[in-house]
Amino acid sequence: MTRVVSGIKPSGELNIGGYAGALHQFVAMQDQYECLFFVPDLHAITVPQDPKELFRRSKEMAALYIASGVDPRKATLFIQSHVPAHTELGWLMETGAYFGELSRMTQFKEKSDGKEGISAALFTYPALMSADILLYQATHVPVGDDQKQHLELTRNLAERFNKRYGKTFTLPDPIIQTLGSRVMGLDDPAKKMSKSNPNQSSYVLLMDSPDEIRRKFARAVTDSEMRVSYDWDNKPAVSNLIEIYAVFSGETTNVIEGRYEGRGYGEFKKDLAEVVIDKLIPIQQRYREIVDSAELIHVLRDGALRAADVANETLRMAKKAMGLFVIE
Ligand code: TYM
Repeated sequence: MTRVVSGIKPSGELNIGGYAGALHQFVAMQDQYECLFFVPDLHAITVPQDPKELFRRSKEMAALYIASGVDPRKATLFIQSHVPAHTELGWLMETGAYFGELSRMTQFKEKSDGKEGISAALFTYPALMSADILLYQATHVPVGDDQKQHLELTRNLAERFNKRYGKTFTLPDPIIQTLGSRVMGLDDPAKKMSKSNPNQSSYVLLMDSPDEIRRKFARAVTDSEMRVSYDWDNKPAVSNLIEIYAVFSGETTNVIEGRYEGRGYGEFKKDLAEVVIDKLIPIQQRYREIVDSAELIHVLRDGALRAADVANETLRMAKKAMGLFVIE
């Protein structure tokens, strides 16, 4: 059985990097596999959040999943904090995670670097993430490249648990697609596209207006060659744009290179903006229809109940295996 689990934090408005690396994959997988997609709100609060904003964003992220094509009749869709088993198994997994291995997590190092008042939760976050996955006995986890290390840790924690207490968890494999798994900033191809970049032109948001999208791609850095070719070693900025084009058009990088042979960057960037806009307009329309609907609340309530059925069963097994006093 193939079971797929994944989520996108509601800590900022979604950019096209998260769409390319994760959400786009969710939609492609739901027809073939049993899928559970959730909004990891408990992960968002590992760094300070404005409560009103967080409330709004969790709902918005769930609406964006649906607007992008996640179909609640095919996939189970829920908010992480609606299924308390996540926090419970998170704690159990923390007991088997070593301080040293958590200290080595690149994301923790990046997010804590030079900051004061780092929460303990930011440090133990990968243990909660492992619980998110292991609770559902997931076989596959579609993620962008930056989550690879967290997935490796999840496998290690699961293996350690199974060895110590008996086979309880399935070891999951990450699914990292070749195109779009690491969308870089439009201002600097050495940095991941991220909403935390103070330069707003460095990212395109799913909810950006067509004019904003045109302006941002027009400003995107390229190089001095004027040749649209896919070559990450020598032309990272242009290669990043070609990958975005490929994900949003469904075409191969070869086809795109061929089309723009002998034509300059200006035309290529203009077309790229239109390709992205064409994809985002229907998503934005659908989003507006559902974000404040009773249908969304119904989907999330139903999703949490379905998810909890599976999660509670695994949690019970894990507790029993560890020798906690489970009453049958
Ligand atoms: P998060 O919320 O930072 O990002 C969500 C997903 O989007 C991918 N992503 C990108 N992919 C390509 N290019 C980019 N510029 C880009 N930015 C983000 C991420 O790799 C990720 O797949 N810890 C996770 C959320 C999480 C989770 C889970 C994921 C919590 N529990 C269980 C899978 C399974 C996170 O912070 O992703």
